[in-house]
Amino acid sequence: MKIAVGSDHAGFLLKESVIGHLRAAERPYRDFGVLSEDSVDYPDIAAPVADAVRSGECDFGILICGTGIGMSIAANKHKGIRAALCGETYSAHCSREHNDANILAMGSRVTGPGLAIDIVEAFLNTLFAGGRHSRRLDKITVIENK
Ligand code: RB5
Repeated sequence: MKIAVGSDHAGFLLKESVIGHLRAAERPYRDFGVLSEDSVDYPDIAAPVADAVRSGECDFGILICGTGIGMSIAANKHKGIRAALCGETYSAHCSREHNDANILAMGSRVTGPGLAIDIVEAFLNTLFAGGRHSRRLDKITVIENK
C-alpha cells in the first residue's frame, strides 16, 4: 500500500509529523510537498495527490492544510476522488468502511500530531464494507458523470 502525502504551508509541519510516522511504520509513501512553510495555494498540491490516487500510482492520499477544508474541497473536484475531512478516528474509520474514501484530509490548526497519527492509522487500517454502501457510491458516480 503506497500513500501520496501533500500539504500547503499551513499543513507543512503536521505533514512532516505524519511522514515521520509513515516512515517509522514502514508504510511506503510519496511526498508531494510542500517542503517549507512558504505560502502556496492548496489546490496546487491537492491536484498531484489526487492524480497519483486516480492513476493508481498510490492507493490512498493524505492532504493537510490549515483546516483541511480547502484541501478536501479541492481534492473532491477530481473525478474518482472521495476525500474525507476527519478530525477524529470514528469518522476516519467510517470514511473507509462506508464511503470508500481514498483521500484523508486533516487540518493542522485543528488536529494535533498525536491525534492526526491515530486518524491516519484508523483510515489506513479499515476496509470498505461494500454491500449497500456500494450502491450509494454508484449514485455519487452518476452525479459525477453528469
Ligand atoms: C491557509 O492560510 C489556509 O487558508 C489553508 O491552509 C486552508 O486552511 C484552507 O482551507
